[in-house]
Amino acid sequence: MCGIVGYVGSKNAMPVLLEGLSRLEYRGYDSAGLALQRKEKIEVFKKAGRLDALRTLLPKRNAATTGIGHTRWATHGAPTDLNAHPHTDSSGCVSIAHNGIIENAGELREYLTTRGHSFASDTDSEVLAALIAEEYGNAGSLLAAVKASLRRVAGTYGLLAMHRDEPANIITARNGSPVVVGVGDNEMLVASDVAALVPFTRQVLYLEDGEIASLSAKHHEIHSLEASRPGVSQRTPSVVDFDVTLASKGHHDHFTLKEISEQPEALERVLRGRIDTRFKTAHFGGLNLEPKELLSFKRIKILGCGSAFIAGSIGAAMIERTTRLPADAESAAEFRYRNPIIEHDTLYMAVSQSGETFDTLTAVQEIQRKGGTVLGVVNVVGSSIARQCGAGIYLHAGPEVAVVSTKTFACTLCAFALFALYMGRMRDMSPAEGEAIINALTQLPEQMRAQIASPDPLRRLAQKYAHYQRAYFVGRCEGFGLAREGALKLKEISYIHAEAYPASELKHGPLALIDEQTPTFVIIPQDDLLTKNLSTIAEIKTRQGPVVAVSQADMSDKPDVDDCIAVPKGHPLTDPILLLPPLQFLAYYAALERECDVDQPRNLAKSVTVE
Ligand code: G6P
Repeated sequence: MCGIVGYVGSKNAMPVLLEGLSRLEYRGYDSAGLALQRKEKIEVFKKAGRLDALRTLLPKRNAATTGIGHTRWATHGAPTDLNAHPHTDSSGCVSIAHNGIIENAGELREYLTTRGHSFASDTDSEVLAALIAEEYGNAGSLLAAVKASLRRVAGTYGLLAMHRDEPANIITARNGSPVVVGVGDNEMLVASDVAALVPFTRQVLYLEDGEIASLSAKHHEIHSLEASRPGVSQRTPSVVDFDVTLASKGHHDHFTLKEISEQPEALERVLRGRIDTRFKTAHFGGLNLEPKELLSFKRIKILGCGSAFIAGSIGAAMIERTTRLPADAESAAEFRYRNPIIEHDTLYMAVSQSGETFDTLTAVQEIQRKGGTVLGVVNVVGSSIARQCGAGIYLHAGPEVAVVSTKTFACTLCAFALFALYMGRMRDMSPAEGEAIINALTQLPEQMRAQIASPDPLRRLAQKYAHYQRAYFVGRCEGFGLAREGALKLKEISYIHAEAYPASELKHGPLALIDEQTPTFVIIPQDDLLTKNLSTIAEIKTRQGPVVAVSQADMSDKPDVDDCIAVPKGHPLTDPILLLPPLQFLAYYAALERECDVDQPRNLAKSVTVE
């Protein structure tokens, strides 16, 4: 999982590629590289580490007007200079940047070695460069050589390729890893994400799996990789709507903090135009399902990975609580590997910020292949999952750049609250209950604005707890989902070992580990489980464990609570959203205290487009 960017046109390619890569660094940041082509010469610069490390290697100026770049998240081969992309075949003719995994790389490497190719890196991608060079001999053009090579490859790719003898041409292909072409004025760009294109053009076209495109400054041609579908097409670009200012840090030190702070406006955008005060319900423009069809579903199953999976689990609890329709969530990766039974009276929903997570996309395809109905709950407009689903709910959270999900998580919960209202009112929820939910949702952005305005107490609390080596997060029902998200955030960016547990399960094992060195964060909504949560706190305190209550209930008179974070009260559908910011701030400030790289934590990437 990596970022790729290519340029062919009349400008100097190097600054364009660097700008593109800087916008893709969230996709991977353990090494980066550029291949720059001018006339019949390709120069490659690559370096382990962040993009800044690559910059130190580059010439001040370079006249190349064609080039490709890559920012890497290592899967095959350690993050070293040699393993960084672009990769070149041993004769130096072909240069490629590849996102994905070549599954039969071992076999191909053996074959290519017998054909006289040698290899400098441990990567599967380098094999592809050699294979294209090998095929070029027979095929006579880069397009034909890449086509022939990809027919021999098993695996996934978002690919860019250049050949020394075709200096004004880039070939790109897609299978399971996104590729977007940007059509400029006498220039063509290509990248794994529109974020890299929008500083230069808003005219984009998306490649589909199984397609290959030939790009020159003025021209693009799209072909199918299937031998039986040899047709060539020119596709009309669509205009992408992308607010570049939302993708910059502004006055904030980190994207993480900026994105936490943006949550009130992001929530306003999720809600905008979706509340129906007349019928006390919600409406969505993109579900493409009639009420009659929606009423025929007997269950809801939500799929996602990482934070999207956790948000889905809280969403499922909200839907089930509100509509009395059985709902649950499952990891998209687990789901797709267990040959799932697809039920036609189950509505599937796929949650993804990027809309590109490979496991989630594949789960969607599996559902559709078996005749199921799946809606996307996606942030990035036009992304692969959104297009594959063809219907669903856009979050409109705006670009999220920090690796950890913050505003998107809040917006996903808000979208599920709206969906629960919509489904509930279609079933047996009264108008009065609908109105109560609408009131709570309408107040939500302002409540959160007030809540995040003064994070200093949370900063002090995070500083106090940042030096523990481990922590528990516990809760019940939606509170357990929040405990999972709180623990995930903390471990991802501060590297404190944090584990989430249902509060009720504490006594069935984890209590053995509670001692004065193990703080527990207890998530306590103001609900009918309050007394149960208080007895959990007593259990922890009996074992001398420090207790931090993240609570909507008044904890001021509770001697067993060492520290309390007071959270404003909303409605059961908005409470999970209001309980979220303290967990985000705790992780953020703990990471700062431990001097961690908050926006780009080690070993992680924002969107995982490989298996
Ligand atoms: C990666 C990220 C997580 C994210 C997950 C799903 O693992 O590090 O923060 O939650 O992917 O991403 P998606 O774009 O599908 O929401």
